[in-house]
Amino acid sequence: DEVIQISDMAHQMGVKAARLIRTLWQQGMRNVTINSSIDVETAEYVAAEFGYTIENVSFQEDEILASYDDEGELRAPVVTIMGHVDHGKTTLLDYIRKAKVADGEAGGITQHIGAYRVDTNQGPVVFIDTPGHEAFTAMRSRGAAVTDIVVLIVAADDGVMPTTQEAIDHARKSDVPIIVAVNKIDKPEANVGRVEQMLMKEGLVGEDYGGETVISHISAKTGEGVDELLDLLGVQAEVLELVAPVKGPAAGTVIESRVDKGRGTVATVLVQAGELKKGDIVVANEFSGKVRNLLQPGVKNKRLKSATPSTPVEVLGLDGAPPAGMRFHVVESERDARQLVAHRREKRRRKESVLSGPSLLERIKSKK
Ligand code: GTP
Ligand code: MG
Repeated sequence: DEVIQISDMAHQMGVKAARLIRTLWQQGMRNVTINSSIDVETAEYVAAEFGYTIENVSFQEDEILASYDDEGELRAPVVTIMGHVDHGKTTLLDYIRKAKVADGEAGGITQHIGAYRVDTNQGPVVFIDTPGHEAFTAMRSRGAAVTDIVVLIVAADDGVMPTTQEAIDHARKSDVPIIVAVNKIDKPEANVGRVEQMLMKEGLVGEDYGGETVISHISAKTGEGVDELLDLLGVQAEVLELVAPVKGPAAGTVIESRVDKGRGTVATVLVQAGELKKGDIVVANEFSGKVRNLLQPGVKNKRLKSATPSTPVEVLGLDGAPPAGMRFHVVESERDARQLVAHRREKRRRKESVLSGPSLLERIKSKK
């Protein structure tokens, strides 16, 4: 399903493009122009007319993208908090961040932060704030395994809900360990025992009942049990022995991106390998650019010199906003970046193109 542009082909064969086009016209392909792309079969046919054969030396992304040969060093865990609507995800994140977002902001407008790193007694932990489950699904379907641990929030006054079940499904399919946080235990209506019974039906059996699921009891509002939850995360992270290579060009995943009036594209990325630095050439999906600045998410104008694995960072300098869940890579040169982007665009166009219908050669044959 490779395609080749008429102008490229003519150039490589040392033949005027007009002659190639004429050959195709003679075969009934009247709407071919110098900018058209033709499939390999058709190209072979045309090349043969001029005494050439086509060799498919298709571009391999691996040739440009870095590989890492060191075994890596320990890195901070990446934790996603999931759960049913209103069960307290944001309240818990806010408590942990101690930023009191709602208090500090004019007019109570929530400043959305895709990912941030906080220091706990157990060392740094990265929290990813996925807005609902769709984003998580999208990230998973794109093969972006960013999450090491899921914290499943279940409100003690409400229990397991359909979205709770979905979250459990997502975590299991992604093979990510779940730590349950039964929340709102400060409420008089809280019924922890009932919630634990419901969880058992989902196959999440607490240690008190002879199972292996870690279940903590918290109040995101008062902070009760939150330190213990963080300790549990620390223990779980240690068990997982999370490592990543720290030397070499950075690679990771786009958490979210937006276009800012003043600053252009702001892409929040999670570095997962290597070291990301100002001045690096970054490619994400079909976008690229030189890193103009690295900023710490959630802290105004805090510049970072570099970012190593398990560090979320805002990248300024991309020429467009790559979708969440996309991988990003640092490449050696702007030329490499252009090549990679061109290759990806071509690949996408090929998929969208009418040329992906019946092969042009088939059409030529049927015209004969
Ligand atoms: P969505 O983002 O809409 O899915 O909700 P959420 O899971 O982020 O819930 P959020 O943190 O917004 O909390 C919903 C409501 O529950 C808010 O009014 C919180 O103040 C309240 N709440 C959250 N945690 C607790 C808690 O531990 N105790 C009590 N009493 N209220 C809580
Ligand atoms: Mg919320």
